[in-house]
Amino acid sequence: MSVCRALLPLVLLVSAASASHFWGGTISFLPKGRNPDGSYRVDFRYKDVFDSCGSRLNWNCVSGNCGGQTDLEVGTIYSTSSRNPSNLNWCQEEGIVTRRLTSDKPFQLSASSCCWVTINNGGWSYPWGLPVMVDLGRRSDTNEPNHSPHTTIISFVRVPRNCPRTYNFIGCDPDHDDIKCRNAATLPTGFQIDQDTCNFHYSPTASTGMYSIRLEVEDYAKQYTTLTYNDGSRSYRTPYQPTSTASPISTTSTPAGSSPFSRLPLQFAVKVEPAVPSCSAGVYLPQFLHPTPADRERLHTAINQELEIRIRASASHSVIQDLIISGPLNITKTKTLSGEFIVTWTPSSDDDGEHFPICFIAESKAGSTLYQSEMRCVIVEVKHEQATIGNVICAESFMAIEVNKSQSEKINIHEDHLRLNDPSCTLYSNGTHVFANMSLNTCGTVMEEDETNVIFKNEIVSVDNPNDVITRHHQVEIQFFCKYPKKGSVTLEFDAHRSPFVFVQKGFGTFSYQFEFFHSSQFRNMEDPSTYPLEYDLGDMMYMQIEATSPVNNTELFVESCQASPSDDPNSHTSYSIISNGCIQDETLQFFSNHGNIVKFGMKAFKFIGLHDQVFITCSVILCEADNSNTRCSQGCMNTTAAPAAHHHHRREAPIQTISHFISQGPVRLSRSVNLKDAASTVTSNGLNMNIVFIAGCLLLAMGMLCGALIYTKRPKAAYQPLPTNDYQ
Ligand SMILES: *[C@@H]1O[C@H](CO)[C@@H](O)[C@H](O)[C@H]1NC(C)=O
Ligand SMILES: *[C@@H]1O[C@H](CO)[C@@H](O)[C@H](O)[C@H]1NC(C)=O
Ligand SMILES: *[C@@H]1O[C@H](CO)[C@@H](O)[C@H](O)[C@H]1NC(C)=O
Ligand SMILES: *[C@@H]1O[C@H](CO)[C@@H](O)[C@H](O)[C@H]1NC(C)=O
Repeated sequence: MSVCRALLPLVLLVSAASASHFWGGTISFLPKGRNPDGSYRVDFRYKDVFDSCGSRLNWNCVSGNCGGQTDLEVGTIYSTSSRNPSNLNWCQEEGIVTRRLTSDKPFQLSASSCCWVTINNGGWSYPWGLPVMVDLGRRSDTNEPNHSPHTTIISFVRVPRNCPRTYNFIGCDPDHDDIKCRNAATLPTGFQIDQDTCNFHYSPTASTGMYSIRLEVEDYAKQYTTLTYNDGSRSYRTPYQPTSTASPISTTSTPAGSSPFSRLPLQFAVKVEPAVPSCSAGVYLPQFLHPTPADRERLHTAINQELEIRIRASASHSVIQDLIISGPLNITKTKTLSGEFIVTWTPSSDDDGEHFPICFIAESKAGSTLYQSEMRCVIVEVKHEQATIGNVICAESFMAIEVNKSQSEKINIHEDHLRLNDPSCTLYSNGTHVFANMSLNTCGTVMEEDETNVIFKNEIVSVDNPNDVITRHHQVEIQFFCKYPKKGSVTLEFDAHRSPFVFVQKGFGTFSYQFEFFHSSQFRNMEDPSTYPLEYDLGDMMYMQIEATSPVNNTELFVESCQASPSDDPNSHTSYSIISNGCIQDETLQFFSNHGNIVKFGMKAFKFIGLHDQVFITCSVILCEADNSNTRCSQGCMNTTAAPAAHHHHRREAPIQTISHFISQGPVRLSRSVNLKDAASTVTSNGLNMNIVFIAGCLLLAMGMLCGALIYTKRPKAAYQPLPTNDYQ
């Protein structure tokens, strides 16, 4: 019996689909229980890939009662946006179709039309179809309808003829069924599908060309399972038997042999390209670097909580162009100015408890040839309960986090064993909450930006011993961040930028620091924040001043160390020491004043060879009791490695010096590139100029800070400070 219920409006749209060329697609489904009127709701998530965006698939009922479509949401997941040669552009879209059914009996839907892109295993007018088989009977093992395996596809993969490759698009099966993958059409020579693991292999035997790959994914019972339908009838599923060929689902009361619960299509295009000189990752083919998640890594998020995946790739003989992604609708991808890709996705309440695969491939270019990395997929689980671990407060010049103590006790972590990125930053607590707050460039807070946002992030991590630098048990990691849109309307005048951020340290009073750039060695005129970004030519003197604005009398400020690095990553391996242990390291450095609560110094602007035109300067400062010969301040330059500055969080004795604090001014932008000009005039949604925030944020809080002074020097002059350009992995 076959009931076809093509919806009229969709018939009109099918022409759009057939006019485009098909590159592949897949579909899976999520039973969503009963509607208030007792009917069944099923959400289908399909992915399709055509030459261009805007295709709309028409899902026809092939067998059974398919109900009717009640809702459809379609969006673009990834598009090459005519970047590629004319015949190699494609657009992947995802559609979420909601259907209402009056019966829970099996049915089969399909979308089909003409034609595939020109393929070597089908010619230029090969028709396509995406059939999906659904059975909503209540399973005896889970007491719920079956869930299909979750799949996704990277619709178009490239592989050099001489390089073996393996792909696996299967996310997982929520019911933990036995998943099997089969080829639905003969595979081209050189390609193989491993039925049990669903690994799709290429071994270097194919000739170059474009191939369509048509697979089927099925979920089989691991043990004898009964499906019970609303009308009282039943059907049965037995574990997979290799000898049986796929038989139609039986709805009779006799066991049906080895039939799957569901069957899904998984189709994509592979282009076998000319051989490359090296198949090693990192040469021509891009290689993923830290912090890219491992293949098959499981990530967790909660409803309305943004998931963020950071991906980095490199290759020595090609240039990274793009990151091809596939994942759930509304997934976004941005690239930071430092070249890291950031994939984000925020689940909605409909995604509660579901699992979503997200797959990605880095693509690089050398000459006119594009190369693809291995494919990695992560599985994102949307947890039922929202993570109510804490609150993040994003203010104009600082960010703060409150963690509910009962939450950290639940995970059995004592607050003394929690710390921020920068271990010298302290967490506070009251009876019920643990707090940390920091200005936007302190406490190891890392700043990054993409086209639309400036993001400040930090994390609370657990440590075995509060004084340890390393841990072997990473139990807790609470990442938090504040995101400020770059663009907005300038409606507020920012007048609070000079108000120092005040903090309290036991036994020492209340104090704060400021770090500013000045016009000249006279240190009379501070660089006006409204003139930012500053620009320096290489070799220009930069005048800087750090001041402890402590109301405590008789104190002395000491700059223990300053270092420059080309990125805002405090762990960057590439760094250049300006001051170390109180000793001058850079030959151009000059102190203009180095006593009392003000330190004035200057040095010549430089850049890192081969890296961005940006420099971050971070200084570690200590405030001591003046005229006490036992303090670190009075000892000056000490070329021993052990700095006496205490890094202990629970000092009981009245200190005669503070622990060392990281501080800097900035970031200061000093470039003429279009992007950076944009950044210079960025404002938050509050109308606050971000650059001013950075200046204002350059004040001390809590037990320590890390500020990044971001300095862009003008091009294209020669760099004077040679440094290795080793990347970090
Ligand atoms: C995608 O984003 C749009 C616009 O923000 C929103 O209305 C829609 O609900 C989102 N869809 C899903 C599936 O998250
Ligand atoms: C601790 O601080 C939090 C957040 O400010 C507040 O809600 C809570 O009531 C405070 N607890 C106590 C015991 O003061
Ligand atoms: C610090 O010095 C000021 C004047 O120089 C004085 O008024 C104040 O009382 C002093 N404070 C302390 C704590 O000694
Ligand atoms: C200390 O400095 C001197 C002179 O600058 C140098 O010769 C010596 O190697 C340094 N010692 C250490 C331990 O760095």
